[in-house]
Amino acid sequence: MFKAIRDEIDAMMDRDPAARSRLEVVLCYPGFQALMIYRVSHALWRAGWCLSGRWVSQLGRLVTGIEIHPGATIGERLFIDHGMGVVIGETSEIGHNVTLYHGVTLGGVAPSVDSANQRNTKRHPTLRDGVIVGSGAQVLGPITVGANARIGANAVVTKDVPECATIVGIPGRVVQPRDRQAAETTRFVAYGTPTGDIPDPVARAIDGLLNEVQTLRARVNQLEDRAPAPGASPAIVEEGAGEDMAGKSGPPSAGKC
Ligand SMILES: CC(C)(COP(=O)(O)OP(=O)(O)OC[C@H]1O[C@@H](n2cnc3c(N)ncnc32)[C@H](O)[C@@H]1OP(=O)(O)O)[C@@H](O)C(=O)NCCC(=O)NCCS
Repeated sequence: MFKAIRDEIDAMMDRDPAARSRLEVVLCYPGFQALMIYRVSHALWRAGWCLSGRWVSQLGRLVTGIEIHPGATIGERLFIDHGMGVVIGETSEIGHNVTLYHGVTLGGVAPSVDSANQRNTKRHPTLRDGVIVGSGAQVLGPITVGANARIGANAVVTKDVPECATIVGIPGRVVQPRDRQAAETTRFVAYGTPTGDIPDPVARAIDGLLNEVQTLRARVNQLEDRAPAPGASPAIVEEGAGEDMAGKSGPPSAGKC
């Protein structure tokens, strides 16, 4: 059991660049605390102690701001970052290595007006392994979100999502990420964005300067190619006179003709 708990903690440390130690995760991560409380409430629920399960789950909600119904099925290494406002409904199924940010709802829709029938039907989503759901996203109904799919912050999703797809907006639609190959990697990247690295302002500034140097060098080479060879006639020199202030060559002006 301790190994499983250690695994959960390590998974959170892997996925949150802000986590510095296991103790920090245990003491300061509501996602971890909610998951531990869920494991207890789920065991009670499965043993037929439904009211106790609900009660423990409500206690967890009070402490962490995360509401996980004890009837939900959750795989290993779920990471709920920040947590506040997350709701996971009774018939939700969550695979392994799933990440949810704050304000996510895995909610139900009413498949029937008869509430007695709804009690025994699947009303909530299934999230396959490796899914990432951005903050504030609402995933509603008995739909399936394919493995390693990413749902953008504040999206509302009510239809099945293919594997590895990126969904944004209301209603959720598939978009092509700028770095498709990186987006489809099975390796977790924080916040679901392929750049993954924590932005380093100095490195960014240096990158910008290097790009600028490269552009300028190309421009200088271009101008050098156009420059007259030593001893060339003045007519050739005049060819470059069509350059504007920005250094771009423009059409020769009428006056010149
Ligand atoms: C959806 C997401 C995973 C896509 O990341 P990405 O692979 O870097 O995708 P891109 O930035 O290339 O975006 C692709 C397109 O979707 C749009 N888009 C991205 N996220 C969006 C969102 N949440 N809502 C609406 N449109 C979004 C982009 O503007 C872009 O559109 P364009 O092609 O018309 O310019 C990411 O934007 C996201 O929302 N991650 C969740 C982050 C989060 O919840 N953080 C909370 C941490 S506390």
